[in-house]
Amino acid sequence: MTDRDEATLKALELEPAQRAAWLEQFGGFALAHLAGLEDAPAVGLVGAAGNQIARELSAPIPEAPLPGGPAAVLEILGRAVTASLNTAGAGYLAYVPGGGLYASALADLVSNCVNRYTGQASAAPALCQLEDDALRWLAREFGYDVDARGLLTSGGSTANFAAIVAARHQHFGDSGDYSRALAYVSTQSHHSVAKSLRLAGIPLANVRQVRTDARLRMDVEALTRQLHADRAAGGRPFLIVAAAGTTNTGAIDPLPALAELCARERLWLHVDGAYGGAFVLCDEGRARLVGMSRADSITFDPHKGMFLPYGTGCLLVRDGAALRRVHHLAADYLQDFDAQDRRGEPPNPSEYGPELSRDFRGLRVWLPLMLHGAGAFRRALTEKLALAERVHAGLRARVAAGAPLELAAPPELSALAFRLTRRAGEPAPAWSERNAALLDAINRRARVFLSSTNLPTRPGARDASGEQPAAEVVLTLRVCVLSFRTHARHIDLLLEDLDAALAELAARDRV
Ligand SMILES: Cc1ncc(COP(=O)(O)O)c(C=O)c1O
Repeated sequence: MTDRDEATLKALELEPAQRAAWLEQFGGFALAHLAGLEDAPAVGLVGAAGNQIARELSAPIPEAPLPGGPAAVLEILGRAVTASLNTAGAGYLAYVPGGGLYASALADLVSNCVNRYTGQASAAPALCQLEDDALRWLAREFGYDVDARGLLTSGGSTANFAAIVAARHQHFGDSGDYSRALAYVSTQSHHSVAKSLRLAGIPLANVRQVRTDARLRMDVEALTRQLHADRAAGGRPFLIVAAAGTTNTGAIDPLPALAELCARERLWLHVDGAYGGAFVLCDEGRARLVGMSRADSITFDPHKGMFLPYGTGCLLVRDGAALRRVHHLAADYLQDFDAQDRRGEPPNPSEYGPELSRDFRGLRVWLPLMLHGAGAFRRALTEKLALAERVHAGLRARVAAGAPLELAAPPELSALAFRLTRRAGEPAPAWSERNAALLDAINRRARVFLSSTNLPTRPGARDASGEQPAAEVVLTLRVCVLSFRTHARHIDLLLEDLDAALAELAARDRV
C-alpha cells in the first residue's frame, strides 16, 4: 500500500488542526446565527419561495469532497436556514415553540464526539447514571416515587406511543386480540394519541372521542356515561388519555376526577403533558396541574417546556416495571452485557423503550440542568405563564375598548386562542376566511409568528335535550408562549401588530 493509498483510506479521520479549523468555522456559523436571532424576521421564506430555494440547493451527492469545503457547505446551509420558520426566535408564538438551549447544543457536540453507546447501561454505566439522575429528578418533580421510571424519547409522539403500548400490555398482554379494547380521549386531544393507538394495534373505531365543556376540557360526565354504555355492550375499556395542556388552547382536563374514575374502573390513566407538563416545575404551574401525579404515565417534552432542541421527549411511568414488561426481551448477542456484574447499575434505557441503539439524549437534558441549575427553568416557566396573562390582559383590554375580538377560553397555561367576532348571519367559512386574513396581516409584519387551528364556534353548547349539537368549527388564531427567548417586549410587539392588522382589515371592511 502506498502512502497515498493510506492517506485516502484515512480521509474520514481528520488531523487535529483540521478538526479545530472545522470547529471554528461551524461554531462561527452557529454563533453568528444566534447573534442575529433577535433582529431576524419571525418567519423566513417558506411556501413557494422556500420551495424554490430547496430546489436551487438540491445537488447530487459528490464522490469527492465538495470544492470549497466547509465554507461552501456553510453557504448552502446559510441559504437553507433562510427558507424556514424562525422556530428559535423570540417572536415565534406558533404551534408549540421550543427554543433550543445552547447548553444542549454543546451536549450534542460532546456526546456525538465521544459517541458512547448508551442503549445498555453496562456499556457506559456512568453516562447512563447521569441520564438516570436527570430522569429521577424529573420523576420526583412530577410527584412520582422511587418505583417510577423515565424514558427519554425523540418527542411527545413517541413517548405517547410507549405509554399506550405499556397500557395495552398491562390489560391484554400478548393476546393480540384488541378488537374490543377501548380507549378514551377528548375531541381536543393531540392526534399523536390516536396515531399511537392505531400503531399499537387498537382499531381507530375503538378510540372514543369524548366531548368537551365550555373551556374545552374533557367532559367527565359524558365520559362516564360512554364508558358504562361501552362496558354494557361488551367492550373492554383499558385507557383514558387526558391532556395536561391541549395543543389548541392549553386546556387541562379534570385530572383529579379522571384519576378517581380510572381507579374505580381499573383503567390506565395516561396524561399527555407534551406541551404543558413541564409547568409542574414552577409553583404557579404545579398548582394548576393538581392530580397529574396520580396518572399511571405522563408524557412531557423537554424540547418544549424545557426549551431543549427538537428531538427530546420524555415518558414517566409510575410503575416502571410495567414499562419494562412490554419493552424487555433478551438477545443472545447481548449476553456479554448480562454476564457483567450489574449490581448498582442504572437502568438499561433499551429495556424501557423501543430503541436499542440511540443517541445519548441524557446529556442534552443533564448538561443544561448542571450549567443553569433547575431554578433557571422554574423562573423561565413562571415568566411564560405571566406572559400568556399579558397577552390575555391585552386582548381583554381591546375587547373592552370595542375591538371586534373574542377569546376562545381564558388561558390555563401559556397558550390561548382568539378570533374576530362573528358577523350577524355570517356562515362559518366566511368567518374563517376573515380570521385567516387577520392571521396573515399579523404574520406578514414578521415581528411575531402565530398559527391557527379550528375550534368549535360554541364550545360546550348543549341543545334542549342536553346533547351537544353537531360541532361547527371556525378558524381561530393561537398564541403559544414557550420560548425561553420570548419576553414582555415581544408580547408588546404582538399586541401592536394585532392593532395594526385590525386597522388594516377595517380599512378593507373585513373586521
Ligand atoms: C399535547 C401534545 N401531545 C403530543 C405532541 C407531539 O409531540 P412531538 O411533536 O414532540 O412528537 C404535541 C406537540 O405539539 C402536543 O402538543
